[in-house]
Amino acid sequence: MRFSPVAEISRSALLHNLGRLRQLAPGAKIMAVVKANAYGHGLTTLARWLDDAGVNGFGMARLEEALCLRREGIGARMLLLEGVFSEEDLELAASHDLEVAIHDCQQVAILERARLSKPVRVWLKLDTGMHRLGVQPHQFEALYQRLRALENIQGEINFMTHFAVADEAENPETTRQIALFNQLTKNLPGERTLANSAGTLAWPVSHGQWVRAGLALYGGSPMIAGRPEDFDLRPVMTMKTTVLAVREHRAGDPVGYGQSWRASRDTRLAVLAMGYGDGYPRHAVSGTPVLINGKRYPLAGRVSMDMITVEIGDDPIQVGDPVVLWGDGLPVEEIAECASTIPYELLCSTTARVQYRYVD
Ligand SMILES: Cc1ncc(COP(=O)(O)O)c(C=O)c1O
Repeated sequence: MRFSPVAEISRSALLHNLGRLRQLAPGAKIMAVVKANAYGHGLTTLARWLDDAGVNGFGMARLEEALCLRREGIGARMLLLEGVFSEEDLELAASHDLEVAIHDCQQVAILERARLSKPVRVWLKLDTGMHRLGVQPHQFEALYQRLRALENIQGEINFMTHFAVADEAENPETTRQIALFNQLTKNLPGERTLANSAGTLAWPVSHGQWVRAGLALYGGSPMIAGRPEDFDLRPVMTMKTTVLAVREHRAGDPVGYGQSWRASRDTRLAVLAMGYGDGYPRHAVSGTPVLINGKRYPLAGRVSMDMITVEIGDDPIQVGDPVVLWGDGLPVEEIAECASTIPYELLCSTTARVQYRYVD
């Protein structure tokens, strides 16, 4: 027997979530955000599934991610959310029909200098409040006019922005961001995209022509106060492993590094094949839930590189029994909370030694 974690990736859950996004944003096209290895789910398989299901386009952070999908034969529209940073990369983008975000004057200058084999589609990114990337309101008119003068641009100039706090349903900042975006782009031709997953779920007025959905597509809830089931989303990734040892444990005895947890009674511990070397969060606290044979048990003691320990009391658990760390039956949001992080980080943190099983 071999004990190692397996990330089970469900096609039907992905397609269900895509369907939900289509219901939630009926007038918008769906841009599937597949950066960071499709949020840890596996870039090429997920993109293939989504493409087959007729998703309208893909968004990614890095040129390599898009080129990889083009090599796989995926012909859908693709947007580089941060754009490119050299003339060579701009030519690569243009020749592979990739669309680029333009977020500052350097990128406008690159477009002005480049001698491209064919024009490229651009999305002028406006900073309406995120203050990370994006053209600032006072720069907008001048940069827009510079772009309009270029022959390197295919079709109309499109517009995008990114929300800072759309995950907070009551925060008026998102309404302010939407208003600023609408004011700057009023009466201009071109497509618009504002909404990430939170925008798609909670801010219908932000839908525009395209919504850019990442986490919700993978079945996570982007809302601070919200679980996936509130939006009828299903986890695409279920992280599974097995019990590799079961041990008697005396009251008062500690377990693991730092001896940070001690048993309050005579009990038993299950040792599970999953540690931070696989992507389980090292900062998960004692008490973090784990499912063994479908029942919840609390993590006991510190997370090691290859193992975690769980208190199971007298339950008849045996070596080889199935474990779920997050996913189906155990929301990744809950584990993220116990580790003071966010579901995005957990999903992206799966390491190379975890096996992937793609299922229907
Ligand atoms: C520019 C941009 N758009 C869309 C997304 C998708 O966000 P989410 O996963 O919250 O849907 C991201 C992810 O961070 C992003 O950076």
